[in-house]
Amino acid sequence: MGKKYLITSALPYINGELHIGHLIGCYLPSDVYARFCRAMGRDVLYVCGADEHGTPAIVGAAKEHIPVKEYTDKYYEKHLRAVSDFKLSFDLYGRTHTDLQEILVQDLFARLEEQGLIEERETVQPFSVDDNMFLADRQIEGTCPKCGYDKARGDQCDNCSATYEANELKNPHSAISGSTNIEMRKTKNLFFLASKVEGKWKEWLKEHAPKWSKTASAIAMGWANEGLHDTSITRDLSWGIPVNKPGYENKVFYVWFDAPWGYVSISQAANKDWESWWKNPDCFYAQFMGKDNVKFHSVFFPEQELAMNDNWKTVDLLKAVNFLNFEGGKVAKSTGNGIFLDEALNIAPSDCWRYALMSSAPETDDTDFTMARFADVVNKDLNGMLGNFVSRVCKLSAKNFGDIVPEGNGIDEDLAGRINTKITDLTNALEKCEFRDAVFALRSLWAIANEYMTVKEPWALVKNGDTKAAANALNECFQMIDLFARVSAPFIPDAAEKMQNVFENKHDLSWPTKYEHRIETNEKFVVPENLFSRIELAEKEDK
Ligand code: 2FM
Ligand code: ZN
Repeated sequence: MGKKYLITSALPYINGELHIGHLIGCYLPSDVYARFCRAMGRDVLYVCGADEHGTPAIVGAAKEHIPVKEYTDKYYEKHLRAVSDFKLSFDLYGRTHTDLQEILVQDLFARLEEQGLIEERETVQPFSVDDNMFLADRQIEGTCPKCGYDKARGDQCDNCSATYEANELKNPHSAISGSTNIEMRKTKNLFFLASKVEGKWKEWLKEHAPKWSKTASAIAMGWANEGLHDTSITRDLSWGIPVNKPGYENKVFYVWFDAPWGYVSISQAANKDWESWWKNPDCFYAQFMGKDNVKFHSVFFPEQELAMNDNWKTVDLLKAVNFLNFEGGKVAKSTGNGIFLDEALNIAPSDCWRYALMSSAPETDDTDFTMARFADVVNKDLNGMLGNFVSRVCKLSAKNFGDIVPEGNGIDEDLAGRINTKITDLTNALEKCEFRDAVFALRSLWAIANEYMTVKEPWALVKNGDTKAAANALNECFQMIDLFARVSAPFIPDAAEKMQNVFENKHDLSWPTKYEHRIETNEKFVVPENLFSRIELAEKEDK
């Protein structure tokens, strides 16, 4: 087996419907990368799952008037459905409300305590008199203490990404009942003394952050100047991982002391050798997330990992994407703006979403996704370039040479040279997780194949009686179909499988280092069903 690669994507909160923003924000980039790594022969452990704890689940269940456990079971099923619909190749799509997670987080807490890194402090927390409860994190909303955004959540501002304690929020109100009758009441919580590991963390950050994606390292380096603050890791809630300390029976661990360790507990459930990734300094660890999660993965999670002093694997490549808007607005079920994953497949098959979303991945800026652009990309790239090429080659060959690959007379060196340049571009882009560049290189390969057909005109060669030259050109085209099955697979696995199944012999989809002829003359093939169909959008009504 090859080198160990650990790949995780941010665990989406279990509340609400999944939409295409989740696909691009946490699922697809990691899946493309994981598939690429496996094709390279690497020993991959790739996990994700639902983040069941924290206040989003509590607020969601309250809105649906059902118990939290019933609520999380219901939405976990939806997550699993999306994972299978969109061909996400996790070794395991787990969840965080499990025994493994509870044992792990409680052990980790004990480990911090053992090292003198936990302190009990009395704090004042917002208490909703009407709800008769303390309001933690997203149970409370108000105005951001840093930027003044008036829909800020209790622990984090969606506008400026600042994180803070709920009692710093201005004009607070309850997200459960809307009540503004909020009092500040005293309560006890446990603090993680992160300031004690500041030196270690700063050194770590300086070494690691420059190697991350631009968005991620810019955000992370911003925090380096801030230093590390001691943070409360317990909450007055009844849903979450119970705190294993006498006197804390009615409290749970803060979701950000819990969720990132979900990567570990899900790994434990996925593979009995999980430690050969998580405790292995030679393993390469890549994390994928939206930009709003960067602080937690560059500050909060690594400071905990470093503090444990137990050789936990920290992130080597942190890839963050910006936000994806839809038709000029924020995706939201409440306004009906966006494409939700339970309905996306009624519009187009999963490969189309995978490819179109990756081709406009919000890598440098927030990006607007429009249906017009979606249809354009599917029709031009997938249907027009790749699908038509495969179909023309197979049909033309079957008509003139039967169901066997016609005879070729060796590789076309000029063509191979051009293809190899693009294979190198594609490979380098995938190594660096520069996905738009990767899609560009992939599309260039398809363009080379189409151009080859246009220049060689095998149909004209047949017509003019130059059968040998026609056979040779078609043979070369079959070799390119074999290549496309391999290099397209991380992006469009269904189409890749169809291309693989063109040939009677199942050729592996290992990642190519260069263009090669793997298909024998006279190898049997079948004309596949069309790889893609055009997308016709209903005309927009004039206003
Ligand atoms: O922001 C979120 O959606 C969090 N549920 C992400 C957690 S990522 C990881 F730490 F588990
Ligand atoms: Zn703000």
